[in-house]
Amino acid sequence: MKYKGLTIGIPKEIMENENRVAAIPETVKKFKDQGARILVENNAGTGSIFNNDEYETAGAEIISDVKELFNASDIIMKVKEPKFNKSLNIHEIDMMKKDQVLVTFIHPANPSNHDMVNKLADQGVMSLSLDCIPRITRAQSMDALTSMSTVAGYKSVISAANRLPKFMPMIGTAVGMIKPANVLVIGIGVAGLQALATAKRLGAVTYAADIRPDAVEQAASLGARTVDINIPPEMAIGQGGYAKHLEEEWLQKERDALQTAVLEADILILAALIPKKIAPILITEDMVKAMKPGSSIIDISVDQGGNCALTEPGNIVCKHNITIDGTQNIPGSVPSSASFMFAHNIYNLLSLIVDDGKINIDKDDEIIKSALITKNGAIVNKDVAEEIELYKSGALK
Ligand code: NAI
Repeated sequence: MKYKGLTIGIPKEIMENENRVAAIPETVKKFKDQGARILVENNAGTGSIFNNDEYETAGAEIISDVKELFNASDIIMKVKEPKFNKSLNIHEIDMMKKDQVLVTFIHPANPSNHDMVNKLADQGVMSLSLDCIPRITRAQSMDALTSMSTVAGYKSVISAANRLPKFMPMIGTAVGMIKPANVLVIGIGVAGLQALATAKRLGAVTYAADIRPDAVEQAASLGARTVDINIPPEMAIGQGGYAKHLEEEWLQKERDALQTAVLEADILILAALIPKKIAPILITEDMVKAMKPGSSIIDISVDQGGNCALTEPGNIVCKHNITIDGTQNIPGSVPSSASFMFAHNIYNLLSLIVDDGKINIDKDDEIIKSALITKNGAIVNKDVAEEIELYKSGALK
């Protein structure tokens, strides 16, 4: 029995408007069948449409006192990084204990999380961050970042279509044929691909732009018309095949090349990101001014600063007759599907670190090496420790 003797706790998320949950009844049952004791905080799954009864049927115990839940658990599974619990007036980390395992999105590179990461280390917590899992084939079933990007890409198109003052598909009517909407997606990673696929299903004519030729090829295979932005591959592709930061001169060339497609877009989905960097500004205020009135921009890259100069993080604003949507935590707005994927990702990651009722950290495993952030009172992830030190020294400000 893999989880024999281990207690896994699932607290209710405390971030405002966060409806996702780290375990669903299906994954609770899987843990339970392998010997785990599962504690779920009262109504932890309600926002994702999983109720207490379903968790109990799956074998969980429902706990109202979250301090008791933290105290009794060997492993804590969460969606969002630990935060201050205002209703209890205590930080979630202060409810944790030495050698307790925490698996969640920690986003340790984000400067606003550096103190929290230090706090995890000070508390002796063994933390693993889902956003640090390497993008390798073996890790695909644990890749929660990919799962959430899938949700963001899908929901961005649904939200924009809902706001559009016209039809998405071509519709034949008694008074004539109505043209389909044009959807331009810039940045064709996981979210961009899903946005293209969703827009296509809704009947839009889709356009795609990316600096990586592979991404452009994938977009074309989904039926998108591709926009040539004339960035040489050696300029665009960095380590591991990921996109590279472009100098301003090249970004300006890209903006020029995008201009015509931007003018024709009814919906513009912005999803261009460089790992661990501020998102490039690809849409300037002048470009927004030139867009067709009534068009809509959804800036999925908002958490890394946004691709549009007018994006306001967390707000939907109307500027120059264009709606600019800077909604954060888009995956949290499709909580049921997002939790389904997240819960399976976290289940698969835990399977890698638990063996025979014990936590078994194989430091030579590429996935664990990359995801493990703190252990035995220290920040053990070299990249994270370096990033935090560099930021502290002022070199990254
Ligand atoms: P991401 O969210 O980091 O970036 C989104 C897209 O923005 C990328 O395609 C990038 O090329 C593009 N971009 C960056 N700067 C741009 C600019 N100036 N103009 C236009 N586009 C720009 O990407 P994500 O979703 O993390 O995926 C990156 C790659 O990793 C993809 O090729 C994906 O297929 C691959 N991947 C592989 C996985 C695996 O093998 N397990 C899992 C997930 C992704």
